[in-house]
Amino acid sequence: MQHLHFGDGKKYMIQTLGCQMNDHDSEVMAAIVENMGYLPASEPGEADLIIINTCAVRKKPEDKVASMLGKYNALKDSKKDLIIAVGGCMTQQKNSALYIKKRFKQVDLVFGTHALPRLPELLDRARHNKETVVDIEENYSPREGLPVSRLSIYQAWVPIIYGCNNYCSYCVVPYVRGYERSRNIKDIIEEVTALAKNGYKEITLLGQNVNSYGQDLPDNTSFADLLVELNQIDDLARIRFMTSHPKDLSPGLIDVVAQNEKICEHFHLPLQSGSNRILEMMNRGYTREHYLELVQVIKDSIQEVSITSDIIVGFPGETETDFLETLDVLTEARFDSTFAFIYSPRKGTAAEKLKDNNSYEEKEKRLQTLNNLQQRIAIELNNLLVGQSCEVLVEGTSKSNPDLQTGRTRTNKLVHFPGPGDLSGKIVQVLITEARAWNLLGEMREEPQ
Ligand code: 5AD
Ligand code: SF4
Repeated sequence: MQHLHFGDGKKYMIQTLGCQMNDHDSEVMAAIVENMGYLPASEPGEADLIIINTCAVRKKPEDKVASMLGKYNALKDSKKDLIIAVGGCMTQQKNSALYIKKRFKQVDLVFGTHALPRLPELLDRARHNKETVVDIEENYSPREGLPVSRLSIYQAWVPIIYGCNNYCSYCVVPYVRGYERSRNIKDIIEEVTALAKNGYKEITLLGQNVNSYGQDLPDNTSFADLLVELNQIDDLARIRFMTSHPKDLSPGLIDVVAQNEKICEHFHLPLQSGSNRILEMMNRGYTREHYLELVQVIKDSIQEVSITSDIIVGFPGETETDFLETLDVLTEARFDSTFAFIYSPRKGTAAEKLKDNNSYEEKEKRLQTLNNLQQRIAIELNNLLVGQSCEVLVEGTSKSNPDLQTGRTRTNKLVHFPGPGDLSGKIVQVLITEARAWNLLGEMREEPQ
């Protein structure tokens, strides 16, 4: 498609908000525009094409888009043929797409999550059109075969299932990402084999609920089957996956993680709330008792395992008692870390209509209390690692201190240590010397493998 090669001699920049699935979609967008001739720009002022890949899960990332677009307005004044495109989860909602079109006239293209394969044609239309081009069709064109331009040369995101069927009452994801579509096991194995051959050490399998993988496939492949197959791929050192859903995580899968050496000892298992009443209102499909039992099975089956979680505070109608029950689960489960958020009402979700009695100040106070408790637990757990040796995959030189190398343990903990130059992509053994709530300090014990 030579006529779509209009990026020659031009530069692009992609700004990504939100989760790892968005990070990966941005890698696909990057490859698509690179195939059109565009090269990466190092800052927005240098770019001829700016793409914002948006997130809709809470209000905060949505507000960020407006402030980013405000800034790019000025750029557009000085560079008339600059193309500004807005994609991702926020734009897949009709109201937001139309709002962006109306409010930010400098935007040339609004494209939803399903429009990724159509990006070249859409950009072509956008550069000729006076009006903003909008494509938010719910046309689930297959993603297989799209190119990827990965940010890392040793760590790769690999989506295994798109969309979500769970309809948690607070969550916008099923509306903006569509129903669950699993990739073929053969395509995933091929992709991971090629990554390993090309020197990638770690892959992270992505899905809103990886435990649903395969349920929509004709041969009924399960997530556990997929993990067992991937564990056999030579040259690969680590397999991660996220996110697990407590209602679908089976003891069989926990066994598979325990028995297959490449699969990292880490579960990201969102709790959301420790109150059965709130869990029911959230439509999560499990109780606190079931959740705590899962945590126990994980800890009994796998040595040195880490468990991280997501929590929502201030869900409509959450009482002090409900909140204390969440704190209770934190104390009992002893998570390695949590991502806690204040509930943010989302248009079109079931929870949007629920009555909310709590003030914002009260919610902020709860968030602070929860984060304080979690910080204490994290320091206690990390302190247990002092004096131990950990396998670390190095991500590169620390951004804040050029003398330090930064990497992650198999349990996904961040470790800083002094290193002889840049060890990016190397696997090293590090003796942990100091623990903090969010990271560990250590000393390298052996030369890298
Ligand atoms: N408000 C606050 N947090 C939310 N999350 C999802 N939807 C909302 C919302 N409406 C959180 C959940 C989820 C994480 C990705 O984002 O905790 O696990
Ligand atoms: Fe949202 Fe629930 Fe699906 Fe996660 S499982 S993406 S929280 S609806």
